[in-house]
Amino acid sequence: MKLHELEKNARKEIEETATSEELEKVRIRYLGRKGKLTEILHSIGNLSKEEKPVVGRVANRLKIELDQLILIRKKNLEESRTLGLEDLSLPGRKPTIGNLHPLTILSEEIINIFISMGFSVVEGPEIETDYYNFTALNTPPEHPARDLHDTFYLKDGRLLRTHTSPVQIRIMEKHSPPLRIISPGRCYRVDTFDPSHSPTFMQIEGLWVDKDVSMADLFGTLKIFARKTFGGDTKVEFLPGYFPFTEPSAELWIQCPFCTGKGCSVCHQGNIEILGCGMVHPNVLKNMGYSEFLGFAFGMGVERIAMIKYNINDIRLFYQNDLQFLKQFNESKL
Ligand code: PHE
Repeated sequence: MKLHELEKNARKEIEETATSEELEKVRIRYLGRKGKLTEILHSIGNLSKEEKPVVGRVANRLKIELDQLILIRKKNLEESRTLGLEDLSLPGRKPTIGNLHPLTILSEEIINIFISMGFSVVEGPEIETDYYNFTALNTPPEHPARDLHDTFYLKDGRLLRTHTSPVQIRIMEKHSPPLRIISPGRCYRVDTFDPSHSPTFMQIEGLWVDKDVSMADLFGTLKIFARKTFGGDTKVEFLPGYFPFTEPSAELWIQCPFCTGKGCSVCHQGNIEILGCGMVHPNVLKNMGYSEFLGFAFGMGVERIAMIKYNINDIRLFYQNDLQFLKQFNESKL
């Protein structure tokens, strides 16, 4: 009975060892000079004639078995150590869970605002032709507005789109009004990185074409967008602007959230421009065969909106993969 219990305990303890050192301690406890089994083996001589052979046989067999078990366990522990799994009882390491990039999070937030106003999301290619990026947008070759878009050209004459406006043309070509689309995506311009410039950036384009769309609809839609993005009491203002593909054109300005209108180093006399917009130019509509329709369009830089919304003073932070910066933006915080 005693031997039976000793065997059970020894087997369990051997199995539970996590290191060779622990295993050696178990071996000494049972098979060492003063070990539990060794003591039993030594005391066999004191047993009665009848008991001696029985206990002797069982105890000796147990010693051989435990020796073997310990040997096997030792081999296993050594193998797992070379595999780097030495201490299986240690708590596991928590995997690092990433989060969406702040520009992705903010883009989704902005897109959802427009979806709630009936817009659908479409996408266009980042490699464009001159026609879609400029000419169809009322910006023919030699048009001075081309200078504002310092363009990356490919060897075959195509280019990296300088804005998301070409998506307007692609959509108007393929579908007929009424149209209400929003188009997020990456754009490129020849710029060197500095705190306010980046050769690549995200834009979100909007287009609404229908029989009776007016400037008031444009202002109303963008006012809702600005207030949902920057807060319900944000002061918004539309100032005249210029884009070749909209007429009239406007810029949407909001009251600077940093100085609340007092005037500071990031704003212009208390206001900040957040996007460009306007009524789709009659030439663009005519080219698309939409002469009897009206439309409005707008385009915004997502980095710019993010910098204003989260008080970020350097656009490069979005592109440097600094985890400490990026980790601040998980959905729950925005
Ligand atoms: N495409 C313009 C830009 O990149 C923004 C814009 C879009 C303006 C649509 C008016 C209408 O600056």
